[in-house]
Amino acid sequence: MSYYKVDNLEQYFKHYNKSVREPRKFWGKIAEENFTWYQQWDKVVDFNMAEGDIKWFTEAKLNITKNAIDRHLNKRGDKTAIIFEPNNPEEEALHITYNDLHQRVCKMANVLRDQGIAKGDRVCIYLPMIPELAVALLACARIGAIHSVIFAGFSADAVSNRITDSGCKMVITADGGFRGSKTIALKEIIDEALEKCDSVEKILVVKRTNTQVNMMEGRDQWIQPLLDEASDNSIAEIMDAEDPLFILYTSGSTGKPKGMVHTTAGYMVQSAYTFKNVFAYEETDVFWCTADIGWITGHSYIVYGPLLNGATTVIFEGVPSYPDFSRFWQIIEKHKITQFYTAPTAIRALAKENLEYINKYALKSLKVIGSVGEPINEEAWHWYNDHVGAKKCPVVDTWWQTETGGIMISPLAFVTPTKPTYATLPLPGIQPVLMDEKRNEIEGNQVVGSLCIKFPWPGIARTIWGDHKRYIDTYFSAFPGKFFTGDGALRDEVGYYRITGRVDDVVIVSGHNLGTAPIEDAINEHPAVAESAIVGFPHDVKGKALYGYVILKETGEIRNKENLFKEINQHISDHVGPIAKLDKIQFVDGLPKTRSGKIMRRILRKIAEGDFSNFGDTSTLLNPEIIEHIKEGSK
Ligand code: PRX
Repeated sequence: MSYYKVDNLEQYFKHYNKSVREPRKFWGKIAEENFTWYQQWDKVVDFNMAEGDIKWFTEAKLNITKNAIDRHLNKRGDKTAIIFEPNNPEEEALHITYNDLHQRVCKMANVLRDQGIAKGDRVCIYLPMIPELAVALLACARIGAIHSVIFAGFSADAVSNRITDSGCKMVITADGGFRGSKTIALKEIIDEALEKCDSVEKILVVKRTNTQVNMMEGRDQWIQPLLDEASDNSIAEIMDAEDPLFILYTSGSTGKPKGMVHTTAGYMVQSAYTFKNVFAYEETDVFWCTADIGWITGHSYIVYGPLLNGATTVIFEGVPSYPDFSRFWQIIEKHKITQFYTAPTAIRALAKENLEYINKYALKSLKVIGSVGEPINEEAWHWYNDHVGAKKCPVVDTWWQTETGGIMISPLAFVTPTKPTYATLPLPGIQPVLMDEKRNEIEGNQVVGSLCIKFPWPGIARTIWGDHKRYIDTYFSAFPGKFFTGDGALRDEVGYYRITGRVDDVVIVSGHNLGTAPIEDAINEHPAVAESAIVGFPHDVKGKALYGYVILKETGEIRNKENLFKEINQHISDHVGPIAKLDKIQFVDGLPKTRSGKIMRRILRKIAEGDFSNFGDTSTLLNPEIIEHIKEGSK
């Protein structure tokens, strides 16, 4: 019996039970039957959750690009692996076959090797959504270099922190990137970022926008001439199952971003298995995930998951609103997309527009539509189901995280009955539990609690780059022996999960995971600011938007508050990125703090939401009188 594909609900329960009772047999069989290995493992899993020590497929040897590319060449060499849809709809789309992809990846792998990159070196990739981005990831994986993709919307400061943290030796970037009507000068941002990093020796630059750039002699090179010269065959490095494949940064509730480290074999198995099952992937499908490859969704469901299954995957360079709000629908019709995977924030933004935008296009190729990144509200779910899926495509509301590597809780298309706003059931191999405040597991149904996972799964991130202690503290100490997700959830009467949102200081804005601390740091850098606190509040398109409470320094100087708001947002743009800008600001005299100096965000959150009803227990506050002042000022 094969466990790779679940065909119906009864089989789901069979596979699920098997995966819980005998996880080693379950994952071992999947790994054995569906992938190419140089050497088999001796243990399927070896772990100690309390120590954050997790290994899958120990001692196995493989290369993920052999699995994502080479092994398809015989059967699918001429099949399209990647469809590139440019920002400008007038520019022709590109169809890259598996043969082409193999050639491109080998060439880039050879260029990287020629430039001195070897196994274990970190390579920062800061590229727009163009084919070279996927090729760069795979080229790193081919030679065993660890890719660290930084979303091309991050500012120079944010880029610089991430490059320094992981000690990248090389940066691959572009002269610029097109995004709707804008052009972003990426190389210029890298130049600025590198003023503060000394680990980077080489920069390779892709030409995309013909933006004027400065090339530093000895450090910077255009990549195309190097690719033209390079051989199109490259031997794949033999990797250990637990060798790091990539680092991807995600926000933490405190301090600097966390460089989540994903390793080779487990991530491969998880991304491939989840792709196949959640989206009911079949050979002739054309899969489109609208995320940016700069986020985990793009890593797992634009690049690795689809290619590992020999699928056709779409890379879209642009934005849903350019040249107008019909762009997504036009692309679905044009490329006959079968699975469409996007974020609630995009759905809400498009649902606000005239239905004519969508009605003009034939979306009948669609079979499955998916949602990811934040809770999807009921209205958006129905709009998506009615107007995009024509009530015939299962809506897969997929819950997961950068840390989990792949989808964890989600309907499996055509298997799990869906329910609006519910991520429904855990995938086989995933053992979620809800925990109460006393750290006890909550049994039964119709309950709410903190969402933890009690058994390791192959795709779990293994550590935080350079800080294993922080990894243990963040994920394994709140509920000892269990992985704490940071999310709250409820389990309904039939055992379906609904994710209710973050229970820590992370705010999800337009599907972007933002930690409050770095934004507060950016605000506090403004010379007029003494202190600040950020919380999220409901927003009809973004899901959550940011509300900043700011205390100004007492300089006696009278400042124009509107200008100050603009300047503060500029500071945030410069230090974190434009996605982290505040929607609202309130200048206050103080912040509610506990005796130990911790800001009581719960109160600030309620005020930001305009809910003054019940602030709960405020007895530990040092300055309870401040609440009245903040409340009044918010009106
Ligand atoms: O709060 C959850 C929310 O996004 C967080 C993870 O963010 P990130 O690591 O950036 O990864 C996003 C893409 C996988 C989670 O802790 N989240 C993600 N998917 C859902 C969700 N919340 C509700 N429903 C979802 N389907």
